[in-house]
Amino acid sequence: MTDMPAALGGRPVVRPDNEPGWPLSGAIEKAALAEITDSGQWVGFSHIPAKWRAILEQVVAATTGHRYGIGQPNGTLAIASGIRAQLRSRGPQWARGRDQVLVADLTHASAHHGVRLGVASELGRAPELVAIDARPDATMDAECVAGYLGQHANRVLAVVPATMYGNFGPIEQIVRLAEDHDVVVHHDNALGGAARYDGRHAVTASISGHGEGKATPSCEGGLVVTSDPDVAALVRADTDCGNAPARLDPIPYADFGPIPAGNQRMGEQPAALMLIQWLRAMHSRLQVRENRRLVTELAQDSALFPVPVLKVPPVDAEYPPFFCLHMECTDELETELGLTPDDLRVALTAEGIWAEAGFIPTHLDPAWQDQITDVGFTYAGSKRVYERAIFMHNKYLRHPDFPVWLAEILQRIRDNAGKLAGISESIPESDRHRVTNPFVRKAHP
Ligand SMILES: Cc1ncc(COP(=O)(O)O)c(C=O)c1O
Repeated sequence: MTDMPAALGGRPVVRPDNEPGWPLSGAIEKAALAEITDSGQWVGFSHIPAKWRAILEQVVAATTGHRYGIGQPNGTLAIASGIRAQLRSRGPQWARGRDQVLVADLTHASAHHGVRLGVASELGRAPELVAIDARPDATMDAECVAGYLGQHANRVLAVVPATMYGNFGPIEQIVRLAEDHDVVVHHDNALGGAARYDGRHAVTASISGHGEGKATPSCEGGLVVTSDPDVAALVRADTDCGNAPARLDPIPYADFGPIPAGNQRMGEQPAALMLIQWLRAMHSRLQVRENRRLVTELAQDSALFPVPVLKVPPVDAEYPPFFCLHMECTDELETELGLTPDDLRVALTAEGIWAEAGFIPTHLDPAWQDQITDVGFTYAGSKRVYERAIFMHNKYLRHPDFPVWLAEILQRIRDNAGKLAGISESIPESDRHRVTNPFVRKAHP
C-alpha cells in the first residue's frame, strides 16, 4: 500500500527539509573568492596573466579531451567566438556565397544569438538560420543534416549541433558530415560541463557556466575548447581586446597584429567558482552515472510498469552530460495509465521534483520562430520531444537518494493513476509544460 500522491493531498516525497541544495558550495568557494578579492587582481590580460582562469582553462581542456580551453563571459559568447575564429581561419574567399547556418531546432533558442554574433562580427552580415529537427534523445538529427548538406552544402557556413539535456547525440557523425562537405562545425556543449565525449570532436566547442542550472555553475561564465593552437589563439584574442597569447598563456605563444576582436573577458572570480564546481562535478558525475543506471532500470522494471511508460534515452558517453535527467513519456502513459505527460509533470512537481518539458523548440518559440528560414521541415521530432519530455534538474540526479525517491513517487502515481488523470487541466494551458517548482536554494547565512 503506497501513500497518496502529493497532488491528491499526500505528503510530498521531496520537501524543503530534504530537497538537495543548489548550487553545492562550501568553504573552498568562500576561500577562493576571498583570496581573489584581497589580491586585487580580479581579471587577467596578456600583460598581467590570469591565475584562476589559466588553471580552469587547463583543467577543462584536459578533462574534456581537448588541448586548449579559453575562458569566456558565458556560453552564448563562447559560441560566437568559436564560429568567428573558424571563419577567420578559413578566410573571406571561402565564405563568399554562403549565407546559412544549421542550428538545432530543439535548444535554448537564445543560443542562436551567439551564432548570429559570430558570423556577423566576422563577415559583416547576419546568416540565415536553418533549424534542424531533433531525434528522440533531443539532439540534432544527423540524417536531417546529411540530407540538407547533400543538397545545399555550398550555401552553408556552419553546423552548430548542441548537447541536449543528458546527451551528446550523434556529434561524431555531424563532425564527419561537416568535414566531408567542408563547412565549419561548432559544438554548442553549453550543457556538457564536466562530461566527456570520447569520439571525434568539433574544431571548437563551447561550455556554459551559467549560475542557475548548469552542471558547473560559475555565476556567469563559459569556455571555448579546441585542440587547434591557431584557432585557440584567435579565440584568446576575442577575450583579450585582440591580443595574441603571451608567453605565460596556457595557449602556445602567437604573434599576430591587432585584429578587430572583442572584449569577452572571463574574470578571476567566475573562473575560480567554475573551477571548484568543475572539481565537485567530477565527483558528482560518478553518482550521476550510478543514478542514471538505477533510474533506467526503474523505468524498465516490469513489476512497476508491466509496459514501460517512461524511457531514458540511451547515453552516448561514459560520463554523459548531467545538466538534467531527460525521460520520454511513451504512448503507453496514456493507453495504460490514462495519464498525459502534462498530468505526470504536475504530479511529479507536487512531489517536490522539478519536472518540466524543457526548452521550447525554436519553430514554436514566439520570439524565434520568425527568425528561422522556412525550408519546408515539419519538426515532428522536436515537437514530440517537447510534448513528451520529463526533464529533472541535475541537483536531483546528483543526490544519492534520488532513485529511491523516484521509485516511491512512481509507485504512488501508478497506484492512483485513475484519480490523477486530467489533473493538469486545473492548470492554465500556457503553464502546463513548465509547471513552477520553487527553486530551493541554501538558506541565507
Ligand atoms: C543549449 C544551450 N546553449 C547555449 C546556452 C547559452 O549559455 P549561457 O547562458 O552561458 O550564455 C544555453 C544556456 O542555457 C543552453 O542551454
